[in-house]
Amino acid sequence: MKTLLILNGPNLNLLGTREPAVYGATTLADLQARCEADGQRLGLAVECFQSNHEGALIDQIHEAGRRFATGELVGVVFNPGAFTHTSVALFDAIQGVKPLPVIEVHISNVHAREPFRHHSYVSPAAAGIVVGFGIDGYRLAIEGLACQAAAA
Ligand code: DQA
Repeated sequence: MKTLLILNGPNLNLLGTREPAVYGATTLADLQARCEADGQRLGLAVECFQSNHEGALIDQIHEAGRRFATGELVGVVFNPGAFTHTSVALFDAIQGVKPLPVIEVHISNVHAREPFRHHSYVSPAAAGIVVGFGIDGYRLAIEGLACQAAAA
């Protein structure tokens, strides 16, 4: 069975208690369980990783690039949190492991929020973007990656 990686960046470990009006009441553990179930339904094993540290996320992307090259991994669903708006290093990491498909996900509609959230360093390197669907965005991204993998 091929694998799909769910990567969550800084502060997403606080899901469920962090600004529930913006991010909802679902915890990271519940979100990850849902992603695993969605993957299973589509015949994919799902691995989940969350970090508050930029370098740890970059290491995961590099490793994902190697695993995509061997055919083990179909791609990455990535919510980079606030690093979205600051990190040239994440852009470079994703560019550096092309053609690994990385789908950028945001729970909230970042374009309807503060101006500093309107720019993403990650988007130009992403294979696709899902924004503003709450945690359902992860399922949509998983389905998109599964469709791409099936068509490849
Ligand atoms: C977020 C949006 C970012 O602006 C914010 O810093 C986050 C979460 C989202 O999922 O809506 O941490 O990526």
